[in-house]
Amino acid sequence: MQLLVTLLLVSCLLLGVPGAQDRAALRRGSDGNGRCQYSFIVDGPLEASCPVHAGAAEVEALKSRMTLLEALVARLAGGEAGTAVRPGLQEAYTKVVEEKSQLQRDKGRLSTQVQELHRRVEDLRQEAERLKSRPCPQAPPPSTPQGDSSLRPGGNPGGPSHLASKPGGQSSSPREPSWHHGNAGYLELKAEVTEVPAPTTEHNTGCGELVAVMEPETHRKADTIAGKYGVWMQDPEAKDPFGPDMVWRINTVGSEVRQLFGYEDLDQLARGFPTKVLLLPEAVESTGAAMYRGSLYYQRRRSRTLIRYELATETVAARRDLPHAGFHGQFPYSWGGYTDIDLAVDEQGLWAIYSTNKAKGAIVVARLDPHSLEVKKTWETNIRKNMVANAFMICGRLYTVASYTLSDTTVNYSFDTATGQGQALSVPFKNRYSYNSMIDYNPDKRRLYAWDNYHMVSYDVRLGRQQRA
Ligand SMILES: *[C@@H]1O[C@H](CO)[C@@H](O)[C@H](O)[C@H]1NC(C)=O
Repeated sequence: MQLLVTLLLVSCLLLGVPGAQDRAALRRGSDGNGRCQYSFIVDGPLEASCPVHAGAAEVEALKSRMTLLEALVARLAGGEAGTAVRPGLQEAYTKVVEEKSQLQRDKGRLSTQVQELHRRVEDLRQEAERLKSRPCPQAPPPSTPQGDSSLRPGGNPGGPSHLASKPGGQSSSPREPSWHHGNAGYLELKAEVTEVPAPTTEHNTGCGELVAVMEPETHRKADTIAGKYGVWMQDPEAKDPFGPDMVWRINTVGSEVRQLFGYEDLDQLARGFPTKVLLLPEAVESTGAAMYRGSLYYQRRRSRTLIRYELATETVAARRDLPHAGFHGQFPYSWGGYTDIDLAVDEQGLWAIYSTNKAKGAIVVARLDPHSLEVKKTWETNIRKNMVANAFMICGRLYTVASYTLSDTTVNYSFDTATGQGQALSVPFKNRYSYNSMIDYNPDKRRLYAWDNYHMVSYDVRLGRQQRA
């Protein structure tokens, strides 16, 4: 006989009612189909409305719900002492324990959010104070083109000008100046930027082999455990209504990952203020997503199905299985996390990095039609996917990173799809926060984007002499 336990939690009615659990009742009945139905019913102080509470009130509500669940757990575990333990009850008990820990997590998350809100309010208050106490500047500072300042919150000298103009120069300083909105040093920094002549080195005027990866620059640290790992990106060929400055982010901790956050630019990402939150129609697996030509490309959870989600229409524009691709832990990168299928974008288009049974776990690279998601061509390497930490594509070449934890590791292998040849490399690479869960190349910014232990970071890269487009 199957036992069905229904928990009726009248949670929103429990706010601030001490001893509410005293009036809780566990009822047992038949649902008419030969199954037992257990109902757990709690009286509430209010009949009609469930008011919307925010912040601290929500935390209180969660506390009440947890107390309630604890009571129920105790009851299910010990209440029926003397009678034989029924298998259905055991199952129900497990369920309740699961729900309890979920609530505990929710509570933790909400507490953090409350703290974060307090912090923001305090920041804003201080900012207001500061603005009040300060006279207006006499002369406007030398201005920089819009594209520059919007690109990098750090205002890395030499960096923004490089980033704004595609084939531009190089970031001359690996140090990140600390960024505070309204920091007096910032105006000076901006002035400096205009004075630095655009470097004329030819290292990134075209495609070439990767010769160096610079120090990571940190853009944002995630606030909650949901952001321990994730994927963040900018569209190298952005489409209306979103411009090239738009930053996209998915926190990928959890089993039902469906939220896509959009930030107007890197400054807004740094401040943590999204302007767009999209709910994806299907859950995302892992950190392999890519943004390209106005669509988010991602792997649907627990499947080898690739999805093209079009941002402008907020609909699924294409979906297709990646033939024979392993998924959900069959061929992940060494850090795990179901990183079986990794989508990548470079100067030549859209790629999938994955493996198959036939390839016996070796990395397979597929070139995809970005419109239909059809596989155009595949290449098989002899690098075992689960031995490397991550991989990315630049100019039609696959690169692998040896370790995701070592602070000093290397890009240790490349595979050229033009020749079908692989070669060992040793280009130094830093995992500053010791848990790098995603590394993707952006061909427009000519940078690597990575998510390292809560931190969204990016790396400038140097490419060798132009060899082919
Ligand atoms: C790259 O590093 C990984 C992890 O240490 C290792 O298994 C692999 O053999 C290396 N590849 C090359 C070509 O050295």
